[in-house]
Amino acid sequence: MTQSIAIKIDGVSKRYGRNVLAVDHAKFDIKEGEFFTLLGPSGCGKTTLMRMIAGFETLTEGTIEICGQDMHGVPPNKRPVNMVFQSYAVFPHMTVAENLAYGLQIDKLGKSEIEKRVKDGLEMVRMSQFSDRRPNQLSGGQRQRVALARALIKRPKVLLLDEPMSALDAKLREEMQVELVTLQHEVGITFVVVTHDQQEALSMSDRVAVIEGGVVRQIATPSELYEHPKSKFVADFIGKMTTFPGKHRGDTNAGSKIEIPHFGEFQCREIVTDSPDLVVGIRPEKIEVRRREPEGDVIKMRGKVKNIMYCGGENHVYVDVDGHEIVAYLQNETRGFHEKFQVGDDVWSYWELNDVVVLDH
Ligand SMILES: Nc1ncnc2c1ncn2[C@@H]1O[C@H](COP(=O)(O)OP(=O)(O)OP(=O)(O)O)[C@@H](O)[C@H]1O
Ligand SMILES: [Mg+2]
Repeated sequence: MTQSIAIKIDGVSKRYGRNVLAVDHAKFDIKEGEFFTLLGPSGCGKTTLMRMIAGFETLTEGTIEICGQDMHGVPPNKRPVNMVFQSYAVFPHMTVAENLAYGLQIDKLGKSEIEKRVKDGLEMVRMSQFSDRRPNQLSGGQRQRVALARALIKRPKVLLLDEPMSALDAKLREEMQVELVTLQHEVGITFVVVTHDQQEALSMSDRVAVIEGGVVRQIATPSELYEHPKSKFVADFIGKMTTFPGKHRGDTNAGSKIEIPHFGEFQCREIVTDSPDLVVGIRPEKIEVRRREPEGDVIKMRGKVKNIMYCGGENHVYVDVDGHEIVAYLQNETRGFHEKFQVGDDVWSYWELNDVVVLDH
């Protein structure tokens, strides 16, 4: 079965004045029923892109289609989308239930239908017992859930959520992430979510678009982004990565030789880009550290333990190799494991050839 396209973004740019290019030629599709995330650092254009989809911002260039219809000139309230803003504004003078009902009254739905949807909406976000409270009697996280329910019960085809978890503490955030994904499966609405938290993006999404300075750098599934990032920016933004500058000799096929200056040569398993200069990277959990020299077909480097950070479930070990820093995450698989290495120890860091990622600059 082929999934239909919910949103088609085609060559979309947004310019503010002469100097700010907030979104630069974005071109991608979001599928129906997908949990799609826009991820990137502050100011990279996430909110701007969402506002253009919702119709609160005009396009400088390009077109946006929602459910097969060109949205040019269509006002926000006539689009089959609903947006929950970054500031999760709720009306302060209305109770939680009134907040939810308001949008449905504007749409002139019948009284009993409104009551039913408000009740369902409150249950969905587990806020039924708060229906008579006013927003100033709620926590930030609860207010955020009210805003979410208010958008959901309008049953839009597409729900746009701009940083829906920003007001939540780490624990509640994780709970809400699970709830949001469950909720999305229940209601089957297409979700487009903005975040600048890479963990959140990886754990919730079907696909993620990583944006840098208005440019979409890579769109892929969470595991594809993490294990096969295309550029150094994406690799660094999605978690930690030890990188080395590398060179290849003009042969871009898989199996060609790549040289890491000062460290040696290895055979690359993937096809690499045309530029002779590239970056070779390795994720910290793929690196092993030990005292004895490893045997077999691995990439290995000798160095000194520079720093150790105890993180409960794992140890983050920083190894200095000729002035180059290698970061390894070692599972604390037994209770005494974290005492295995001391700062200053001579160690070998090594990893499998298969785990090496070759990146563009
Ligand atoms: N109305 C505006 N006028 C001029 N510049 C704007 C306007 N709105 C946004 N910008 C600029 O456009 C760029 C993108 O802003 P945007 O709000 O889309 O970023 P963001 O990715 O949502 O960031 P954050 O994570 O901080 O919310 C920024 O450089 C911002 O300063
Ligand atoms: Mg924003």
